[in-house]
Amino acid sequence: MVETIVILDFGSQYTQVIARRVRECNVYSVILRYDTPAKEIATLRPSGIILSGGPSSVYSKKAPLPDRAVFNLGLPLLGVCYGLQLLGHFLGGKVEKGEKREYGKGALRVTDSFCPLFANLPETLQVWNSHGDKLTKLPKGFKSVAVTENSQFAAIEDRSRKMFGLQFHPEVAHTPRGKEILANFVHNICGCGKNWTMRSYIEQAVEEIRTQVGNERVILGLSGGVDSSVAAALIHKAIGDQLTCIFVNNGLLRGREAGVVREVFGRHFKIKLQYEDASKLFLRRLKGVTDPERKRKIIGTTFIEVFQSATKRAGAAKFLAQGTLYPDVIESVPIAGNPAAMIKSHHNVGGLPKKMKFKLVEPLKCLFKDEVRELGLELGLPREIVLRQPFPGPGLAVRILGEVTPQRCEILRNADTIVVEEMKSSGWYYKIWQSFAVLLPVRSVGVMGDERTYDYTIAIRAVESQDGMTADWVKLPYDLLEKLASRIINEVKGVNRCVFDITSKPPGTIEWE
Ligand code: XMP
Repeated sequence: MVETIVILDFGSQYTQVIARRVRECNVYSVILRYDTPAKEIATLRPSGIILSGGPSSVYSKKAPLPDRAVFNLGLPLLGVCYGLQLLGHFLGGKVEKGEKREYGKGALRVTDSFCPLFANLPETLQVWNSHGDKLTKLPKGFKSVAVTENSQFAAIEDRSRKMFGLQFHPEVAHTPRGKEILANFVHNICGCGKNWTMRSYIEQAVEEIRTQVGNERVILGLSGGVDSSVAAALIHKAIGDQLTCIFVNNGLLRGREAGVVREVFGRHFKIKLQYEDASKLFLRRLKGVTDPERKRKIIGTTFIEVFQSATKRAGAAKFLAQGTLYPDVIESVPIAGNPAAMIKSHHNVGGLPKKMKFKLVEPLKCLFKDEVRELGLELGLPREIVLRQPFPGPGLAVRILGEVTPQRCEILRNADTIVVEEMKSSGWYYKIWQSFAVLLPVRSVGVMGDERTYDYTIAIRAVESQDGMTADWVKLPYDLLEKLASRIINEVKGVNRCVFDITSKPPGTIEWE
């Protein structure tokens, strides 16, 4: 059994960050709902438990509370923020409303350097606080081991029971040495080794896929994106030719997309690849359509239709593989004020119809995106695929405003190729979330040589983001912007003007649609 840290989720927006930090220590972590029964937790035989933060007050009627028996499992326990207040609430301490909300950077002073959480760390540390309530009386058996200006109990411990509490958030980047605190917890206190690596995961996943699939056949819809590509490479490693990948060309792909996929998967990995060129069908159906929602709908239903008939041609398969990731399957805690519960991606909803009676193979279901990238590299996929920026399912259609025609696709594809090339050669491509060109349906006057032109405008968009939910526009250097504009206007026929989008999300969206 893999050594595991269980994280009970009380609705903090940072719960997933805790899970990722633990995994960065090469220790496997799982997120469970706050009220998961202790007995159920025990069946996982975890090495320790972390109680996450959360927006509630332990005294409110609707406060999410854990199964009391969690405190009697005899396991090492770390309460973070609201988690620390739970220690107070359940183990004989006292929590009160703070006079003022403590929010932002603070200086922590470690008063007991023997506390194993702070081993090999300096006496003062910068930490990030975000809490209203405050522990005012220590729970029984506990003592304070660190203080801040506003709190005598910024870190507490009962070393004999291996229980610890932190009032601040060690998981966020604003607590620069927080990862070392978490590493101390999982390695020194819980006794975990460093066994969670993508190399060991491959062995485990290959075994599981073989057991699940047996001699049956598996179909996978390859989009060229990171997730489906890594899933394909992993499943292929496990079952070879029992896997067939279907790649649909919807006519809305980037310049080299179809070529790269056929080259990498067909020729290099020798994966059975069924290439479906449906570009004409998609473009025919999009003819004359300008409403963004209708475009999306047409693309969605056409894709299902094409994919369905492609699966029939691929021969009888019992399984359908998908590149579902861990954040898609974590059950979010329905607590008011928990942004994670309210923001659910509005994209990729629906998926394939239920009547396609496949059993699912989802070998990335317990991985975070960073891990999927690492796994892809470990499996030998090229950087071009593993480190690529997200590309929306409806493709260039969400970047062509107004009607999608073959001519407009061509213009945008040419402009996009230049953006990708220049972003890569300047090193910016891999530093940011997304960068791309958008084709606007407005034409304006220009001069080229002695001639008057009347052509389209390209907007350049470059954004920084963690997950696509919020985003900032990237301050690209002027000389790079200049190069982009001059190349696009000179090399792309049909374009005589370039603008740079300086809108953040919110209030804007990333794609223009
Ligand atoms: P917006 O435009 O909503 O986009 O700010 C947020 C992120 O989602 C991507 N996106 C999509 N991804 N299917 C996808 O797989 C889609 O239909 C889709 N629409 C937008 C977008 O590129 C950005 O990263």
